[in-house]
Amino acid sequence: MTDSISTIRREALGALERIGDSDALSAWRAQYLGRRGAVGKLFAQIGSLPKTERAAFGQGVNALQQELDRAHEEHRALMESQVMARDLEEGEIDISLPAYPRRRGALHPSTQTHREFQTIWADMGFQVYQSRDVEEDDLNFTLLNLPPHHPARDMQDTFYTTDPKVLLRTHTSPGQIRAMRDLGDGGTKPIRVILPGMCYRQEQVTARSEIQFTQVEGLAIGRNIRMSDLKGTIAEFAKRMYSPNAKVRYRASYFPFTEPSMEVDVECFLCGGEGCRVCKYTGWLEIAGSGMVHPTVLRNGGYDPSEWSGFAFGMGPERITMLKHGIQDIRYFWSNDLRFLRQF
Ligand code: DAH
Repeated sequence: MTDSISTIRREALGALERIGDSDALSAWRAQYLGRRGAVGKLFAQIGSLPKTERAAFGQGVNALQQELDRAHEEHRALMESQVMARDLEEGEIDISLPAYPRRRGALHPSTQTHREFQTIWADMGFQVYQSRDVEEDDLNFTLLNLPPHHPARDMQDTFYTTDPKVLLRTHTSPGQIRAMRDLGDGGTKPIRVILPGMCYRQEQVTARSEIQFTQVEGLAIGRNIRMSDLKGTIAEFAKRMYSPNAKVRYRASYFPFTEPSMEVDVECFLCGGEGCRVCKYTGWLEIAGSGMVHPTVLRNGGYDPSEWSGFAFGMGPERITMLKHGIQDIRYFWSNDLRFLRQF
């Protein structure tokens, strides 16, 4: 019986060597490895053998099958390379033809802006702190001094999960609490972080507002941080981001998690402050909400507000991305339209 294995092996490998075209190769495969091929017939014989011989014979046939499979694959590769060499020699392959262009992916325009933001803030000593998109109701609202009746908590504005205590963050500000608790070491260490990320609001989608958008939050906590630090820091950022002589102005405002609060405008860099359609003829573009961290928020982050203070800001990078590239409609950002994305 083992004789038949070695006979078939010799015969098959001998025949394979002489094969030079793919039809003959297919025929060879059918003859030896096909469903009714020689190896298959050997397998079929196993059952009729004495029990003591079955295992050894079975292993022999298995090994033969694997060897022939391998030999077949090697021969096919060899034939292919020979065909290619012949085509090259006969000039059927023109190696001077230009290669097919390869499409390379590119960074999303929003990602590009985020990287610019991050580089600038990192140069100014701010570390990137990655918070989370799925957030607890407490962190998104209550601990930021947004009491339960606050209009921003309205079901209309927020995407809740099936658990009413868990939601998609509506802003990056809850990351302030996480960063303070995580990096503050029980309210004993200063911190300087930015928190970039996606935010979600249940809104009517229009050319100007989306149900998702990104923000970059900033937070600095220390022993002697004042309003002048906030103003200086933002003015410096504007110089690095917009133009070396960018002018900024501050307007008093209100946010529950800062006191005092202000909004920051940068002089419109499209018209140089003259007034144009983009700045709605005001000469200014709003770039951030900001303020001194509210004592309640400091406390919720583990700091004693009689010793520690800090400033915070929140920016919306989509605006600047749109201005930079002349994008008229925010809906392009997350609609995955390749015609849009390939332009960047
Ligand atoms: N979280 C605010 C919003 O989404 C933006 C903001 C305002 C963030 C003032 C801040 C801040 O850190 O100090 O509209």
